[in-house]
Amino acid sequence: MPSPRTGSAALEIRGLTKRYSDGTLALDGLGLEVPDGSFFGLLGPNGAGKTTLIGAVCNLVRMTEGEISVFGEPGSGMRARRMIGIAEQEPNLDKFLTVFETLLYHGGYYGMDRQEASSRAEQMIEAFDLTAKRDVEAPKLSGGMRRRLLLARALLHRPRLVILDEPTAGVDLELRHELWSYIRKLHAQGTTILLTTHYLEEAEALCDEIALISGGRIVARDTAEGLKRSHGAATLEEVYLKTVAGGRIRLAQEVEVE
Ligand SMILES: Nc1ncnc2c1ncn2[C@@H]1O[C@H](COP(=O)(O)OP(=O)(O)O)[C@@H](O)[C@H]1O
Ligand SMILES: [Mg+2]
Repeated sequence: MPSPRTGSAALEIRGLTKRYSDGTLALDGLGLEVPDGSFFGLLGPNGAGKTTLIGAVCNLVRMTEGEISVFGEPGSGMRARRMIGIAEQEPNLDKFLTVFETLLYHGGYYGMDRQEASSRAEQMIEAFDLTAKRDVEAPKLSGGMRRRLLLARALLHRPRLVILDEPTAGVDLELRHELWSYIRKLHAQGTTILLTTHYLEEAEALCDEIALISGGRIVARDTAEGLKRSHGAATLEEVYLKTVAGGRIRLAQEVEVE
């Protein structure tokens, strides 16, 4: 179970800018606060900056400028790192490790002794329905099993903040619903969830708050209902078209022929 709440936001980001070495400005002075205990959705099109943002939070991407804190701890420190569990967009599993070893070694990286890591690994294998594949290496798993293993690994060290980068991109409907149900349970136990997606219906079905990201900035943030109300929109899709895709839609209208 996650530790008791401290009063700090799960995640606080100020003035986050990332310019890649080729000059691409992926994040442009972005600010965001994710409340403790929330199920938070970061919704935006491909290239909006979602993965870069998550990379900066998890120290996988070096930020150009800005400040990040995780439950009040500096984002660059070990304490922050241990409170975060991440399932990256690109499955990055070691191809020589079995399911069990993947989980066991992850526990080791996060400071568990062998016995604790081992029993926790077995527990996750059962919870994520991977028992039949316990001793199988990652490349021999189906895509769906790999997704489940990624999620199991992200949760193994009982992080208070779980970050899921497009966990359902390209997965079939059945697995999508299965993943949703795991994530919902986790949230119900008090874990803060930050989920990135470009599926509007996913954000609306799961998240209690949504931030729309476009061009490396947060362009709107509220509950799904609040976003619709403030934009005079009947659906979240309409809000999305008015904010995130606003520029492109206007352009299309201007070039329309009579
Ligand atoms: N390693 C990199 N080097 C240069 N540009 C990158 C790199 N990674 C991402 N980008 C660029 O940064 C922008 C944001 O990308 P990304 O964070 O992956 O967005 P999203 O996850 O929302 O699709 C895009 O323009 C992308 O092409
Ligand atoms: Mg991405």
